[in-house]
Amino acid sequence: MSDDLFKLNVDGQDIEVPRQYTLMQACEEAGAEIPRFCYHERLSVAGNCRMCLVEWEGAPKPIASCAQTVGDMRPNRDGSAPNIRTKGAYVEKARNGVMEFLLINHPLDCPICDQGGECDLQDQAMAYGRAGSRYDENKRAVEDKNMGPLVKTIMTRCIQCTRCVRFAAEVAGVEELGMISRGENAEITTYLEKSLTSELSGNVIDLCPVGALTSKPYAFNARPWELRKTSSIDVMDAMGAAIRVDAKGDGVMRILPEVSEGINEEWLSDKSRFIWDGLARQRLDKPYIRENGKLRPANWGEAFAAVKEALSASPEKIGVVAGDLIEVEQAKAALDFFRGLGVENTDCRPAGAQYGTDGVRERYILNGTLAGVEDADALLLIGTNPRVEAAVWNARIRKAWLWADLKVGRIGEAADL
Ligand code: SF4
Ligand code: FES
Repeated sequence: MSDDLFKLNVDGQDIEVPRQYTLMQACEEAGAEIPRFCYHERLSVAGNCRMCLVEWEGAPKPIASCAQTVGDMRPNRDGSAPNIRTKGAYVEKARNGVMEFLLINHPLDCPICDQGGECDLQDQAMAYGRAGSRYDENKRAVEDKNMGPLVKTIMTRCIQCTRCVRFAAEVAGVEELGMISRGENAEITTYLEKSLTSELSGNVIDLCPVGALTSKPYAFNARPWELRKTSSIDVMDAMGAAIRVDAKGDGVMRILPEVSEGINEEWLSDKSRFIWDGLARQRLDKPYIRENGKLRPANWGEAFAAVKEALSASPEKIGVVAGDLIEVEQAKAALDFFRGLGVENTDCRPAGAQYGTDGVRERYILNGTLAGVEDADALLLIGTNPRVEAAVWNARIRKAWLWADLKVGRIGEAADL
C-alpha cells in the first residue's frame, strides 16, 4: 500500500483509494450507490441529512460516509483493511430511520408539488423508506419566503440540507441565505425578506433536493415526463454554456444547465436560465412605425411601405447593423441584399468591439480558456464586469481567487464583482 493510498474493503471487495477521499467517494469507487441529500460534489461537506449512512464493522453506530475522510479511518486490530458495508439489514434499518425522520415534517405535497417526478426525496423514499410512519403528531409549518421573481419557495417542504445556503455563500459569493433558529424552529431564510440579488440564483432550484425551492416562471406549467429534452448551447453570453431545452408541444417550458467541466461546470446564469420566458410573453408580434418620435402599431403593408421609403435614400445614407443573435445565413443574406442596393456601411458588432485589422485572432479571444483561470497566477480585467457579462465565469474566477490565490486586477468602472 503506497502512503497516499488507503486500503478498504467495501461490500467484500478490496479497493485502494487516495487518503483524502471521503468514505462516500470510496464506496462509489467500489461501485456502491450511496443515497444523499446534503452532499454535493461542488459544495463543502455539511453532513447534516444522515442519508448516506453505511456500516463500518466494529464501529458503535452507522457512519455518515460523506463526512468521513478515508485517511482518518483506522485499520482493524489485526492490521487488515476496515470493512464497510453499504447494503444489508443494518444499513437498511439506518436509512429507514433517517427517511422516517425526514418525513416527520415533510408534507405529503407530491401531487401538487412542481418537483414531483424529479424529487430526490420522493425517489429515495421509494427506494429506502418505510411503508408507514410512527409519528402521528401534527406536522410543523414554515412561512414561505419571498426570494424575488425567479425562485418560488414552499418552505414547509425544506429538509434543511443547507445546499442552497452553501451555494450562495461558496459559489455565488453572496451571503443572502442562511438558517436561523434551532431544532423544530430551524428555517432557511433570506433574512429580512430580501430578494436574492445573485446572477446565479436559479441554481438553487436545481440544488434543492425537494420542492422547497422551485422555478417561479415554470410553476405548474409541466411535469418532467411530458417534456421533450434537447441538448443545446446557450447564446445569452459569450461563454456558450451547455444547456438542455425542455419543450412541451412547440413551447419551450424551461432551460436547465448540463455539465460541461471546461465551460459552465454545472451552473447557469439567471439570464440564460429564464430567457425562455421572453419566447412566449410580450413578444413583438406586429410591426410598429415611428411617427413624431412615437411608435404606433401598423399592418405589414404599411411597414413594408415605410421600409421601401427608407431604402429609397441614397446608399451612403444607409447603415446596416446585424445583431449578435442572428445566424450566419441571415447575416450573409442581409449583406448580399444591401450590397445589391449599393450600401457599403455594414457592421456586425453592435457593441462596437474592435477586433483589430490585422486579423490576428489570438488578440481578442480568451487564450487561457475559461477553465484555465484556475491555473493562472494573475488575471487583469480591462473594461469588463464579468459578474454581469459572464456570471458563471465570474464564479470560477472567484473560486480561483478564494482557493488558488489568483490575483485579480481591474481597470475600468468600479463594481462589486
Ligand atoms: S430549501 Fe432546499 S436546498 Fe435549501 S436547505 Fe431546504 S431543502 Fe435544502
Ligand atoms: S449526504 Fe452525508 S450527511 Fe447528508
